Amino acid sequence: MWVRILEKIYGVIGSPIAHSMSPEMHNDLFQYYKLNARYHAFHVEQENLKDAIKGFKAIGISGFNVTIPHKVAILELLDEVEEVAANIGAVNTVVNDKGKLVGYNTDGQGFITSIKTKVKKELADCRVLLIGAGGAARAIFISLASVGVSNIDIVNRTAKKAEEIITSCNYTTVSSFYTLSEAKYDLEKYDIIINTTSIGMHPNIDETPISITQLSKESVVSDIIYNPLKTSFLKEAEKKGAIIDNGIGMFVFQGALAFEKWTGIFPDPLRMEKVVRTRLG
Ligand code: ATR
Repeated sequence: MWVRILEKIYGVIGSPIAHSMSPEMHNDLFQYYKLNARYHAFHVEQENLKDAIKGFKAIGISGFNVTIPHKVAILELLDEVEEVAANIGAVNTVVNDKGKLVGYNTDGQGFITSIKTKVKKELADCRVLLIGAGGAARAIFISLASVGVSNIDIVNRTAKKAEEIITSCNYTTVSSFYTLSEAKYDLEKYDIIINTTSIGMHPNIDETPISITQLSKESVVSDIIYNPLKTSFLKEAEKKGAIIDNGIGMFVFQGALAFEKWTGIFPDPLRMEKVVRTRLG
C-alpha cells in the first residue's frame, strides 16, 4: 500500500509578518539537513490569535515562532510554559510535544549564545549594562540572570520600567537602574554594554542612545539592531577600542535554538548568518 509521508509544518505568527527572515532561514536548514518539513509565515491579527492556535493544534503543527504583537498574549493559550519564558512573560518559540503546546523564549538565550562568542571572561563574572527596558531588554536581563550573571544594571528613559524588570526577576541580581539623562553610570566598570532600544535603527541611523566615554579593556558593546548592521553606537564603541557585536547574532541564535528544540539538531550558525546577510543585502 502506498502511504503519503506528511511533511512537517512549522511557521511564524505575527502582524506584520511579510518582512520576516525566519522562513528563508529555516527552510534553508530543512533542505540542508534533508528534513521533510516546511516553514511558513502566517499573518495573524490580535483578535484571531486564539482561533489560530486552536487551528494549529487541530492540524498538528510541529512547532512555531511567535513575534510582535503576540509574544505576551500567547502565554495563556499554551498548555505549558518553560520557567525562564514564564518569568520573562513572553514566548517566541512553541513546540508541539505529542499534542501539547509548550512555550519557550529563545530570544534571551540566543543573545547569550551570541555574546559568549565575543566575551573573553566567564559570563557569570561579567558586569553588564542594559540600555532600554522594553520586551527585548526584559528577555535578555532575565535570561542572563537565569545563567548566573548577577551584576546587571539598566539605564532607560523611563526609570519605572527598568525598576519593574529588576524587581520581577525570579533570579538573584545586584542591580541598579538609572534614567538616560542621569550621568551616574560609569561605562568603564562594565564588561558588556547592550543597546536594546530602537535608537539608531534605520532610518534614524545617526542617533545613539548614550555617548560612549571611557571603556574598560576588552569590553564588548552590543546592539540588538541589525538594520543597519553597524549602528552609530557600535561605530563609536569600535573607535574607543571595544569588541562589537550586532543584532544578527541574537537573531540567528534565537532561530538556531528554536530549530534545535524542534528537530534535535543544533544548526550551523554561519550558514544561517549567510542567509540573513544575503537577505539584508
Ligand atoms: P522591544 O520589545 O523591541 O524591546 P519596546 O518594548 O517598545 O521594544 O521597548 C523599547 C525600549 O526603547 C524602551 O525601553 C524605550 O524606552 P521607554 O521605556 O522610556 O519607553 C526605549 N526607547 C525607544 N525609543 C526611544 C527614544 N527615542 N529615546 C529613549 N528611549 C527610547
